[in-house]
Parts: sequence; C-alpha cells; structure tokens
Amino acid sequence: MTTLLIATRNAHKVGEIQAILGAQFRCLTLKEFPDAPAVIEDADTFAGNATKKAVELAKWRAGEKSTANSQQPTPNFVLADDSGLEVDALNGAPGVHSARFAALDKSENAHDTDNNTKLLRLLKEVPLEKRSARFRCVIALAPIPERNTKYASPVCFADKLEAQLFDGACEGQIRSSPRGQGGFGYDPLFVPDGFTQSFAELGEDVKNKLSHRAKALAKLKAYFNKLPT
Ligand code: IMP
Repeated sequence: MTTLLIATRNAHKVGEIQAILGAQFRCLTLKEFPDAPAVIEDADTFAGNATKKAVELAKWRAGEKSTANSQQPTPNFVLADDSGLEVDALNGAPGVHSARFAALDKSENAHDTDNNTKLLRLLKEVPLEKRSARFRCVIALAPIPERNTKYASPVCFADKLEAQLFDGACEGQIRSSPRGQGGFGYDPLFVPDGFTQSFAELGEDVKNKLSHRAKALAKLKAYFNKLPT
C-alpha cells in the first residue's frame, strides 16, 4: 500500500483528501510529524507553492531517522495541495492569497469568515451574472528517497528531488450571502456550475465528486494506477 504524508495543517483539506483517495492509500498528516518544518508559501503560483511544500518536506523526511522500528508507517511520498479561489471580476483575486485575503499581516492566514466578508464587500456592486469564479487546486507529489538506496546520503539524493503536478478546477459563481454549514473557506459563497446550492449546502459527498481537489486527485490516482507494481 502507498503511504502518503499529506503536507497541510488544514484539517478540512486533510479530510477531503482522505475521503477522495479512499482505502488504496494510507494517509499520514503533519499532525503525526510535529517536528516537520513550516514551509513559507511565497511563490506566486499554486504550482510553485505546492512544489515547494512537497519538495521541502520530502527532503526533510529523507534526512530524518528511519521510523522502521516505530509504530508509525514510513511515508513513501509527500502530497502537497495548494489551492484557492479566482474571481473574474477581481482579476483573479484572491488566487494564491486566498487563505490570507483579509489578513492585515500577510504572513498569517485570516479567519474564513473574515475572508468571506472581504470578498462580499469587494463584490457588492457586481451583479450576480458577473460573479463568475473558480476554485483551482494543484497537487504536488514528491517521492521520499529511502535510506537504503545505493546513494551514499539520502540528503544528497534529495537535492535532485522533483515533484509531479496534478491540477483541477471547478467553475461556478459567488453568491451574495453565505449559505450552508459544510466544507470550509469560501464554500458557503461558492455555487458550482449546474447547481443552485453552495458547496457548504451541497455537503461533502457532492463536493468531493466535482471539486477542484477531486479532479486533481483523480489524475493522481490514474498516475499511480499506471505505475508498474
Ligand atoms: P492553502 O492552504 O495555502 O492552499 O490555502 C487554501 C485557501 O484557499 C483556503 O484557506 C481557502 O480559503 C481556499 N480554498 C481552497 N480550497 C478550498 C475549498 O475547497 N473550499 C473553500 N475554500 C478553499
């Protein structure tokens, strides 16, 4: 079985990724690795941030002592998700800044409700038919080099690490007020095309079939299914 280290501290994201990937993968999270370094997301693209998170954490794991004798399974790959909302009337904002859209200190994430309030304020004069938007997700997958490879140092080997990228988008519209209790982030404001309810109203089963994250993870699963066993 493939064991993945999911590189996020966002519990909602972890839950969605685990539910979408299913039993074919064992998912560990940063909760199980409290010593993992915090990676600064300072790239200006989703792909850049996802790659940075996956590669830095895979390098860190490669340099760590093996957990072979511990109860914990050893992850084979780091999976990092970078995602956000692009609103056409705002020229693609909040984009890569989605998590810290309303934050005064841009190195900190803001509360979801503050981000949603700011988004609604900026769109106040924009009619519903011009509120087109999409969620985007880029997943980066980086292999964690094993200690017993022929390479002398897993850390040296890790310098050459590259990530595979898988992307997904979900088109929709920003409604004029939040609705629903499910999901996270901008879900109460986002109505996917073909529906009248927000992601937060539709619930996880529906969201996990059509979301940006579901589409990116479907590509990742297809990639694994093609790998020689
Ligand atoms: P990241 O953790 O740096 O990738 O930031 C992602 C941010 O984008 C989250 O904090 C949310 O604000 C937003 N976001 C990403 N995916 C979703 C989603 O599925 N629903 C709602 N908001 C999302």
